[in-house]
Amino acid sequence: MRKATMKAMLAAGAVFMATGAAYGHGDVNPQPVDTAGLPETGEEWLTENPYRAETAGEEVWLKAVEIGASGYNQNCARCHGLEAVSGGLAPDVRMLEAEEYGDEWYVERFREGYTQNGITKMPAFGELLGQDAAWAIRTYIETRPDTETMDELSDELKALRDTLAGYAEDDSGADYEALKTRLAEMAAGIETLSGAPVADSVAFRAANLIDGSKAAYKSAAETLTVGLSAAK
Ligand code: HEC
Repeated sequence: MRKATMKAMLAAGAVFMATGAAYGHGDVNPQPVDTAGLPETGEEWLTENPYRAETAGEEVWLKAVEIGASGYNQNCARCHGLEAVSGGLAPDVRMLEAEEYGDEWYVERFREGYTQNGITKMPAFGELLGQDAAWAIRTYIETRPDTETMDELSDELKALRDTLAGYAEDDSGADYEALKTRLAEMAAGIETLSGAPVADSVAFRAANLIDGSKAAYKSAAETLTVGLSAAK
């Protein structure tokens, strides 16, 4: 009896240690995601992302990207990589098609996680985070910009960042429409790997911010700085 208990405890300990080793990243508890501001998706799990701009409108889509970014960083980045650029520990999720086929696969993994030979390689998130968080994170993942294009554009983006930072101090002679147009053009040329129509790139964000005010030049310059340093 005692022996059996001991054995069970050891076995439990072994499983615990194996799981810990498999994660290798310390805390693996799913972190709740605050989805306030997003339309609720309800009890029944959908098979297609409801927060795309085509279905939900641009405002919901932008909100989903924002909430999804924080949900992703807290729950997925340690395995799937910062900005969803995989470091090899887990698959690169940017490639999943932004349509029902990719969504179904995404949502299955999100809900069930992945266990191999009794070892949890990816925890199940469905119950703990819920459906709204699932699709917000999905929206963030599928709108990541292609990093190769971002690298090609980085010199011009840096130059634009410096121009914007200058205008934040002194905007005499600033042609904000020309700047906005150029950034929007660059943004339009940046693709996603998922096939989603619009990439949430720093060029896209900066273009949206610029409105001719000094404050907007400043925040657009900051947005570019953060994005460019994240991309190295
Ligand atoms: C502890 C590490 C870990 C964490 C945390 C993690 N994953 Fe995973 N994920 C994996 C591994 C490993 C696989 C590969 C499983 C397999 O072989 O199918 C995977 C597979 C996936 C897949 C399938 C990808 C494909 O191309 O087949 C998706 C989608 C996915 N994860 C999404 C997420 C999301 C979203 C989060 C955060 C909410 C997350 N994962 C958190 C490790 C993790």
